[in-house]
Amino acid sequence: MGLRDRLAAEIAAGGPISVAQYMTACLHDPRFGYYATRPALGAGGDFVTAPLVSQMFGELVGVWIAAAWEMLARPAPFRLVEMGPGDGTLMGDILKTLRHAPGALEAADVWLVETSAPLIALQSGRLAGRVRWTRTLGEVPDGAPLLLVANELLDCLPARQFVRTAIGWAEQVVGLDADGELAFGLASTPVAGLLPDAAPGQVFEQSAAQAALGAALGARIAADGGAALLIDYGRAEPGFGDTLQALWRHRKVDPLESPGEADLTVHADFPAVMAAARGQGAEAAIQTQQAFLSRLGIGARAEALVRAAPGRSGVIGRQLTRLIGADEMGELFKACAIHSPGWAPPAFEDVEDEAA
Ligand SMILES: C[S@@+](CC[C@H](N)C(=O)[O-])C[C@H]1O[C@@H](n2cnc3c(N)ncnc32)[C@H](O)[C@@H]1O
Repeated sequence: MGLRDRLAAEIAAGGPISVAQYMTACLHDPRFGYYATRPALGAGGDFVTAPLVSQMFGELVGVWIAAAWEMLARPAPFRLVEMGPGDGTLMGDILKTLRHAPGALEAADVWLVETSAPLIALQSGRLAGRVRWTRTLGEVPDGAPLLLVANELLDCLPARQFVRTAIGWAEQVVGLDADGELAFGLASTPVAGLLPDAAPGQVFEQSAAQAALGAALGARIAADGGAALLIDYGRAEPGFGDTLQALWRHRKVDPLESPGEADLTVHADFPAVMAAARGQGAEAAIQTQQAFLSRLGIGARAEALVRAAPGRSGVIGRQLTRLIGADEMGELFKACAIHSPGWAPPAFEDVEDEAA
């Protein structure tokens, strides 16, 4: 029995499940979940992330970490953590870049937080001997400043969806249609509790897991000092919209079509993540990926790469456009910094902190 049949049997016996429960099963079921069985990053896989578009992305994140470490007065040790490190490319480029910041690599106690066994195997191939692994942030030892990076992690944390009907909010759920196929529906009990005002038809997404990560990062950073850099596609302001999306071999497919076989995501809810972090005593700020990478000098880095390999100027130009172009990743993707009070991390110095 595959995941679709198992979910159908569970729904037939116990009733519809929330979109968050469906996402958790599709992504993390230990036997059939996407990340447990077949995470496929890269051109030949299901999706391409920024570190795989170009080495420039990881190098600039490395520059951000080196500069933040300097601003924090070069703590030794500090915890250098990546959550959801994929195939290990980003951490590889970060470590390569940190070689140019004397003392930083020696001071870095490097941890990868990862839940996917196949991806841990890929990461080991690139990074074994230089990093340690945990399944949760809580297992990374505290007591030293934290510099943490997570690219495209928030979007794979599960979210519930609510739909405003003529008589109030109802939860969008996954149930069965008359033929026994998985189908979206609305739970018949209207939702009690605080949801924003909206016109009928609007969809509101709420991710307890994203907010919990914001709170955990905020608490850790308020206690130990440091900063977390969360980069993802998502909203910078609270808003509405159904952002559930399934990607299979670079194509959008029906999220209910093949549970466990496609990557399933929602937009990062940065306002909720930042509010949770602020609630724990940290500060938070956000800007577009375009602004963030431009402030770190991606234009100059691209020029230097072209000077070193003029024959690759077309490729490098296309990579640059992919990363910062307004119609590509530049505006949809945001860079959010959660940081300890009293300083602003590199490239966030003049970004307004709405909590201030
Ligand atoms: C979309 S991939 C991004 C990979 C990489 N950061 C990149 O940019 O190429 C999501 C990553 O998050 C990991 N992941 C998913 N849920 C996680 C969780 N709850 N805790 C830690 N890692 C998780 C996945 O296994 C994968 O490594």
